[in-house]
Amino acid sequence: MKLRVNKASPFARKARILARETGLTGRIEEIETTVSPVAANEDLARDNPLIKIPALVTDNGETLYDSGVICEYLDTLHQGRKFFPAAGAQRFAALRRHALTDGILEAAVLCRYELAVRPEALRWNDWIEGQKRKIFGGLAVLEAEADSWSGDLDIGHVGVACALGYLDFRFAAWAWRSGHPRLAAWFERVARRASVSETAPS
Ligand code: BEZ
Repeated sequence: MKLRVNKASPFARKARILARETGLTGRIEEIETTVSPVAANEDLARDNPLIKIPALVTDNGETLYDSGVICEYLDTLHQGRKFFPAAGAQRFAALRRHALTDGILEAAVLCRYELAVRPEALRWNDWIEGQKRKIFGGLAVLEAEADSWSGDLDIGHVGVACALGYLDFRFAAWAWRSGHPRLAAWFERVARRASVSETAPS
């Protein structure tokens, strides 16, 4: 399988962590892919018309996207404990947490583009503040539940690790640890896992 990634992308990082956690790295070739919100990568567009990463080309030649679909597919390819619980309250807790962290990440990546790509004269601070409200609202919910998380990771926890790692990578000045001590302690433990440390954004 070929997995199109970008080492800065938190969405690609979810799939890269899943591949390592599930022992699938030997079956997946990671292909570093350039992405830009203003210059379409036509090669990537052939695999994913949305021109987004990650995109996974399976051994059958089919292409899967987005990151959640790719992660769920990878989760079907191994016999270990599942990152997408099969049913019941556990499943919906994991999916809800995953949706929350995807929302945090979408807002953070939009802020990144606004601050790094949009010409300075066109920046709209109220819009950035609106995205930050979503990010910090999401972190508050995660902080409130972090003490209840067991040691086992589900797809939502993978999303939390990618979201916190991305905030450290692109928005260190926002100091998310301040006011989120439980989340900070959890992330310090999780960041030691090989799957997480090997995929740190760069
Ligand atoms: C970034 O450089 O922050 C980035 C790269 C790819 C996807 C999303 C974000």
